Amino acid sequence: MVLLDLNSHNKHYNPEKFRSNFPAINDQSVYLDSAATALKPQAMIAATHEYYAHSTATAQRSLHHDALQVTASIDKARQYVADFIHANDNSEIIWTRGTTESINIVAQSYARTILKPNDEIIVSELEHHSNLLPWLIVAQQTGAKVIKWSSNIDELSALISSRTKIVAITQMSNVTGFCPDLATISQITHQYNAVLVVDGAQGIVHHCLDVKQLDIDFYAFSAHKLYGPTGLGVLYGKQLLLKQMSVWQGGGKMLKTASFSDFQPADLPYKFEAGTPNIAGIIGFAATLDWLRNWDVKQADRYTEQLANYTKSQLMKITDIEFYSVDNSPIISFNIKNIHHNDLAILLGEQKIAIRTGELCAQPLMQKLGCHGVIRISLMPYNNQQDVDKLIEAIQNAIAILT
Ligand SMILES: Cc1ncc(COP(=O)(O)O)c(C=O)c1O
Repeated sequence: MVLLDLNSHNKHYNPEKFRSNFPAINDQSVYLDSAATALKPQAMIAATHEYYAHSTATAQRSLHHDALQVTASIDKARQYVADFIHANDNSEIIWTRGTTESINIVAQSYARTILKPNDEIIVSELEHHSNLLPWLIVAQQTGAKVIKWSSNIDELSALISSRTKIVAITQMSNVTGFCPDLATISQITHQYNAVLVVDGAQGIVHHCLDVKQLDIDFYAFSAHKLYGPTGLGVLYGKQLLLKQMSVWQGGGKMLKTASFSDFQPADLPYKFEAGTPNIAGIIGFAATLDWLRNWDVKQADRYTEQLANYTKSQLMKITDIEFYSVDNSPIISFNIKNIHHNDLAILLGEQKIAIRTGELCAQPLMQKLGCHGVIRISLMPYNNQQDVDKLIEAIQNAIAILT
C-alpha cells in the first residue's frame, strides 16, 4: 500500500508560492541557517495546533474516539515515511528523537551485540559527531576499532576486509555539501558482508533516496531538517536486521508480556518505541510530507542549485575568501582571511541575517580542513536572490567594521 506517492500528482514548483507557505519569512530578516533546522510550513504548524487545540489524545492505548484517530494518524505517518524513502514495509520505520538517537540505536542495539575485539567500523572523515561518537562509544564497549576513511571509493576498497562489520557514511556532508557515491559504497560494503549505515540528516532534504535500490541497511534522519517538527526522527532498518536486534529502551508498549523475571519484546516497529511517542510531532510531520508532495521537489532542487551558484559567484568577489564546500551545493562553507568566523556571525546577526559558524559538530573534519571553524550558509527552495543580495551587503558592512 503506497499512501504517499511523490510522482502521482500534477506537481509544480514556484519559488514565490513555495516561499509564501512559511510564516516565519518576512522582509526584515534573512534565514540562511536551514542546515541547522529548516523553517516550517503553515501546513505543519496547523496540523500540530489542531492536535493540541482540538484532538489531544494518546496513541496505541486508550480506546475513545480521539485516541483511535491519533493511533490511525501515526500509522498513516509511518506509511508516509516508508513511501518517502521507498522502504519495503512500514514496520521498518522506527520513530526516534532524531538522527542522533537513530544512529545510537544502531550502535547499541545492533553493533554492540555483534562486534568482537578487533572487528572494524569504517567511518568517513566527513561525519557529524552524531555519526562518529556512537561508533567510538561502542568500540570502547566491545574492543572493536574505528577506522578513519577519507570517503574516497578507492580508499574504501583498500581499507575494507573481513574484519569490517560496519561502514558509516553521510548522504551529504553538513560542512562541505559533498554527497558520496552511495551506490558504489553499498556494493563494496556488501561484498564484505558488512552493514551500511547512512546518515541522511542533510541529504534527505535535497536528494530523495531509495533505500531499497541503494541496498542501505540503516538510514537515519531528523524531521526538523525536512520542514518538520523538532524532537522527531526516523530510523529505517532492513526488517531482517531489526528483528535480530536487541531492544533499545524499556517501557510501555515495547513488550508483549512482562513479569518480574522476564519480558517478551513487541513486534516491529514497537519493540524500539518505548513510552508515549512524540504524537504532535508525528502528526505534524505527516502533514509536512503530505504538503511536500504538492511540489515538484526535483525542480525545487534545481532552483536551489542555481541560487547556490549565484551565491557562490557573489561571494567569490570578496577578497581572500576560502571555500571548503563543493560546487553546486546548497551548503556553502568558507572563511575570510583575518576575520574570525564568530565575529562575522555576530555582525551578520545584528543585521538580521541568520547563518551558522563554528566547528559544525565536525571537529575531525575541521582538523582535516586546517581550520577551527567555518562560516556556513545553507539554502533552501524558500530562499531567493534578495536573501543572497542582503547577505552579501551585510558581509561587506561587517568586513568594513572588522578590517
Ligand atoms: C550530517 C548531520 N548528521 C547528524 C546531525 C544530527 O541531527 P540531530 O541533531 O537532529 O539528531 C546533523 C545535524 O546538524 C547533521 O547535519
